[in-house]
Amino acid sequence: MTEPVAFPQDRTCPYHPPAAYDPLRGGPPLKRVTFFDGRPVWAVTGHATARELLGDPRLSSDSQNPAWPVPSARYVGLLNRRTPLLQVDDPEHRRQRRLLIPSFTLKRVQSLRPGIEETADGLLDSLLSRGNEAELVGEFALPMPSKVICRLLGVPFADHDFFEEQARRLLRGPELSDVEDARDRLEGYLRRIIEEKQVRPGEGLLDEIIREQADVEGEFDPQELAELAFILLIGGHETTANMISLSVFTLLQHPERLAELRADRALLPTAVEELMRHLSIVEGMLRVATEDIEVAGETIRKDEGVVFSLSLVNRDESVYSHPDVLDWQRPARHHIGFGYGIHQCLGQNLARAELEIALDRLLTRLPGLRLAAPAEEIPHKPGDTIQGIVQLPVTW
Ligand code: HEM
Repeated sequence: MTEPVAFPQDRTCPYHPPAAYDPLRGGPPLKRVTFFDGRPVWAVTGHATARELLGDPRLSSDSQNPAWPVPSARYVGLLNRRTPLLQVDDPEHRRQRRLLIPSFTLKRVQSLRPGIEETADGLLDSLLSRGNEAELVGEFALPMPSKVICRLLGVPFADHDFFEEQARRLLRGPELSDVEDARDRLEGYLRRIIEEKQVRPGEGLLDEIIREQADVEGEFDPQELAELAFILLIGGHETTANMISLSVFTLLQHPERLAELRADRALLPTAVEELMRHLSIVEGMLRVATEDIEVAGETIRKDEGVVFSLSLVNRDESVYSHPDVLDWQRPARHHIGFGYGIHQCLGQNLARAELEIALDRLLTRLPGLRLAAPAEEIPHKPGDTIQGIVQLPVTW
């Protein structure tokens, strides 16, 4: 018997699944892996089984369940409170999601596009005015989605240093206390913004919800809204920023694919889907079984933990031929880089628009873009968080 693979592990190449996951590729769609605390967990690596299980209400997202699988020591700090929406099961989840859906429809996102383009161009104007070198994460990939989500929520961008720092501590802080403290600070900050908005209404999603709830139900819970705003603020900028920086890095390592995009911008929407599939920046999505589930010839027992390895699911060879190849021609749209089922990413329309615009503006404004350091020296993120590039020195 071979030892179960430890999960999660660091990627060797920032845009490929960790080499240590090779034994998990191919074969049955469900395998046993071990978490840091020695706990055995089911890893889902097959595309069809992933979709089947993500649609199964017997798999719960409730992190307050004592049987919830904990993937790393740092993650323990996120468990002292339940993250709304993401870690809530139906019917409560459905109620919370309904509050937010109108702000994330395709139509609403289309109306945001001119503002997103203006934001991207504004950042590139100041980057270009400083010379021909930049650190692209700090000067573009992070502030762009940050500004977009601030404008959408109605939160002052002037405070972005504060919440980007809290997001960093929350997702990658070295100490457990970082995670707890960062979350308290962010929620406290959002709570104060919401209280202010109740007295002096402004423009934005939070103001809309405050108004609607006051009209329809006559009462409104500022704490719940602060918690929802928290997940939008974190979900809205950290993931997209990682996706932008890792996409740029990956394109610079694939000059032919880059040249195709430069020659034909109409490829951008399919390129974004293929990048979502190929990069799978959310590496492990967690669930716990609330009943026994028979699936793919195995039984997941009640209280067993399940992790969906999105990078392996999105490279399932039975669905994607030559899955390790970046290819704009393949139909990649049914990847599950945004998840699947009731928790499928609420911000996916926005994320797609931001990615398309970020890449389009970068290709147009910085036609000579290239790395300013050897690719092997570009630092990328550890395996137990959202995947991305830490710093991306570029020149043009
Ligand atoms: C490229 C960028 C993004 C990626 C890769 C991404 C990925 C994901 C994934 C995989 C999930 C499912 C988690 C699960 O089922 O456990 C998710 C959920 C979610 N995402 Fe995103 N996301 C991105 C951008 C955004 C943006 C821009 C926003 C908001 C402005 C956002 C808000 C959310 C929310 C609120 C949920 C929870 C939905 C629910 O539980 O019903 N995401 N995202």
